[in-house]
Amino acid sequence: MNNPFNPAPGAPPARIIGREAELAALRESVRRAKLRQAPTPAVFLGQRGMGKTVLLGFLREFGNRETLSVAIEILPDRTIAARLRDKIDALLASVEPLPARAGHVLKRALKALPKVSYELPHQGGAIALGAASDSEEQRHDHDSLIAMLTALQDASRIAKRYLTITIDEVQDADVRSMQTLASFVHESAQSDRPILLAAAGLSETRDLIDKLRTYVQRWDMFDLRLLTLPETVEAIREPIIDEGASIDEDALYALAAESGGYPFFVQAYASAAWTAHAGKAITLADVERTLPDVRRRNEMSFYIRPLARLTSREMALALILAELGPGAHSFGDVARALGRDARDVSSTRGSLIKKEIISSPVPGLVEFRIPFTDRFLREHADEYRSADVQASIEDISRQRNDQKHAPKR
Ligand SMILES: Nc1ncnc2c1ncn2[C@@H]1O[C@H](COP(=O)(O)OP(=O)(O)OP(=O)(O)O)[C@@H](O)[C@H]1O
Ligand SMILES: [Mg+2]
Repeated sequence: MNNPFNPAPGAPPARIIGREAELAALRESVRRAKLRQAPTPAVFLGQRGMGKTVLLGFLREFGNRETLSVAIEILPDRTIAARLRDKIDALLASVEPLPARAGHVLKRALKALPKVSYELPHQGGAIALGAASDSEEQRHDHDSLIAMLTALQDASRIAKRYLTITIDEVQDADVRSMQTLASFVHESAQSDRPILLAAAGLSETRDLIDKLRTYVQRWDMFDLRLLTLPETVEAIREPIIDEGASIDEDALYALAAESGGYPFFVQAYASAAWTAHAGKAITLADVERTLPDVRRRNEMSFYIRPLARLTSREMALALILAELGPGAHSFGDVARALGRDARDVSSTRGSLIKKEIISSPVPGLVEFRIPFTDRFLREHADEYRSADVQASIEDISRQRNDQKHAPKR
């Protein structure tokens, strides 16, 4: 019997549970693409480990041999053109070769490409690009992106397949490349080969989407949420049954409770319990034997290590955000709870975003990037509210009081 659980980034779970709306939209996209009708691009948003990458993988797999699919994962300091170039190279070298003529089209296109600049100007990512003037480099990137997309479309036409493009970590994409890509996909909708596009990213992707042209706002956006208790139970029990094993009810509910419906945790805890079990059924004893270790590992990589990088000021803000509970909160409220004006602590917010602790789903709101960071911080508030942090909180409030009591001019 194989372990049906897979706690790894992008690893497809035995069953994708609790994502019916997302899966239905993807199936409908594929149906339309096969009929050469324009599918609506889909964007999956959510915190780390919620199953965004898994959905993109599902889309590519679902198309099977009827699609030519290209998976792009954005890296912060590389353009989409550069990433696509890597992908086309890989496609040409892949074990399942394209029809020869389609391969030729791609090879020819690569040779004719204008020089691609592999770095974003000033390594600034989306922000710098948005503000930068039209440099020659950017024109080159634009031209080479168009050339590669055209070649891919030609290749898919020759191969008699539809073209699927998925973009992961899209929050790090630069606005201009995304604009080029979006308008290319938009134009393809009027052709005989509409492109199927799906993207996934952290919640701040909304910001990027807002910066793109208006038709992008008609893309389907999905916010991935934690699984409900019944979904979590199903996500644990069904793969076990599929393997011809079983799990005792108390063991099942202990795993479900511990994971809190967080897809990554579901896989991590269930996988460990599976490994520990002997015989046909997973028992509560198996769960109890493995749970503390997995919890420690999870806490270490998801919370303890990232939080250890915070300065006392950043920690003071994180602790306040944690006290407000799960979900996104108004940054104004966080600042007020710190006794400050939002503007005064905006640089601390900026550094927490840079350190990947929080993200901003829409301007004015902030949330933790990883589910249950708030719970972890509340449970360990005493340890984190060390002398340093306490001093920082007091310092912030004192400044506030000083301002309040300062004589009016
Ligand atoms: N619907 C689901 N049911 C059960 N497990 C799931 C589900 N979706 C994803 N998982 C599991 O959760 C883990 C994380 O999935 P994935 O890597 O797709 O998340 P992600 O949102 O892309 O995370 P990140 O932001 O870190 O890239 C994987 O182990 C995957 O198998
Ligand atoms: Mg991912």
